[in-house]
Amino acid sequence: MAAGKGTRLKSKHPKVLHAVGGKPLLAHVIRAAAKVVPASDIFSIIGHEADKVREAVASYGTNFVEQKEQRGTGHAMMQCREALRGYDHVLVLSGDVPLIKTETIASVREFHLAQNAAMTILTAIPPDPFGYGRIIRKKKSGKATTEVAEIVEQKSASVSQQKIREVNSGIYAFSVPELFARIDRLSTNNAHHEFYLTDIAGLLTHDKKKVVGIPASDFNEVIGVNTRLELAALDALLREEKARELMASGVTIFRPETCVLDADVKVGPDTVIEPFVQLLGSTSIGGDCVVRSYSVVKDSRIGDAVTIRNGCVIDESTVDNGAIIGPFSHLRPASQIGENAHVGNFVETKKTRLGRSSKANHLTYLGDAEIGEGVNIGAGTITCNYDGVNKHKTVIDDGAFVGSDSTLVAPVKVGRGAYVGAASCITEDVPEDALAVGRGRQVNKEGWAKAKREERKSQAATRKS
Ligand code: UD1
Ligand code: CA
Repeated sequence: MAAGKGTRLKSKHPKVLHAVGGKPLLAHVIRAAAKVVPASDIFSIIGHEADKVREAVASYGTNFVEQKEQRGTGHAMMQCREALRGYDHVLVLSGDVPLIKTETIASVREFHLAQNAAMTILTAIPPDPFGYGRIIRKKKSGKATTEVAEIVEQKSASVSQQKIREVNSGIYAFSVPELFARIDRLSTNNAHHEFYLTDIAGLLTHDKKKVVGIPASDFNEVIGVNTRLELAALDALLREEKARELMASGVTIFRPETCVLDADVKVGPDTVIEPFVQLLGSTSIGGDCVVRSYSVVKDSRIGDAVTIRNGCVIDESTVDNGAIIGPFSHLRPASQIGENAHVGNFVETKKTRLGRSSKANHLTYLGDAEIGEGVNIGAGTITCNYDGVNKHKTVIDDGAFVGSDSTLVAPVKVGRGAYVGAASCITEDVPEDALAVGRGRQVNKEGWAKAKREERKSQAATRKS
């Protein structure tokens, strides 16, 4: 169920597209579900901003059912009658309960089938049950049983029902025929004037059908996101879990509570992650690396024994073993930094390969460049890759030396082992082993400065007198 607006988030974006752990809420739920049933058997009920939601999770290959008007969770399930034709049972998950684990979904299914139930409810005991639907258990000689009589929503609960601590997680299994035999009997005669899916429990009980409740082992798994505060709390839980997992596998993380580590990130053993680091998306980092504070690495592949010094931004790039990056380097998409290469402070690269053991250590822009091995790029070098309309390529062959403050106007090639004199503007190819100097020749005017000073002094004396 992912059609709701999420009024309590006070957002223009649909609730299920708000992210925790770097991924939309709905994506978490689909991922967990897709390990229990094939994606082709998953239906996302979408409604509010349906197109955006559809697009955001399209890559998972699930089906969609549209709920044009959002008239409650019962109404959401009414839209699925056709889609579920031919299925015996359905698991119902909430798009706003993102921490649910595959094993828990599987255990709901197993319990449901083993109990031969018409409806199985995953329940939980939160520290504060306020706001959740309460589970009214059937009793046998004063003791609660596995069977549930009904679910009572917060706003409809009597004072004594409000004291019940066991709540509805919003996650269920249903017998498809039993559900749809009763779904039209739901009414909107309640506090929210909505069709509550939860009322199916009471209807089944009334018809002497079996409704059971299975408690979740961990309440955190079934926390729903209704407010920004809950969003932040769940995000923190996910980050903490990820940091714990990496530490258990041999990664050192100092002040893990300050780091943002996305769920799919991989880090090798003996890598050290300093405070305030962000490792995002599909990033993988090898072993024996150091990632210093304030660096942000997204969708990138970093080899072994790489040092990423403070304040680097690395996006969709690769860095090979032993390279040193930063401080304050910006590797933009499609940068490939070779083994043992160095990229230093205030260096920006884009769609550029910097070969093995090459160095670009200071104040440089390398865009659309193919740079060989053992090349030295002097401070302040700029590849002029853009002529205002098109992008062009700069090629610098192995062993070349580019002097400081050079501009290389692409398309241009510096041959193997060639030198470019400092402050050159290179517009033509430089042959192998040549020296290219492209700048105004220096002129020294002997005594010029001294003469200027004396002229100023005598002018000042004239003004005073
Ligand atoms: C629901 C349950 C409550 C339970 C809680 C657990 C009902 C009536 N109540 O309340 O017992 O304790 O979840 O988190 O079901 N949705 C639709 N279409 C709609 C309305 C909602 O698809 O018309 C989707 C929402 O996008 C959301 C999910 O259903 O993903 C739950 O809806 P929400 O309004 O958040 O229900 P709660 O008030 O949290
Ligand atoms: Ca909710």
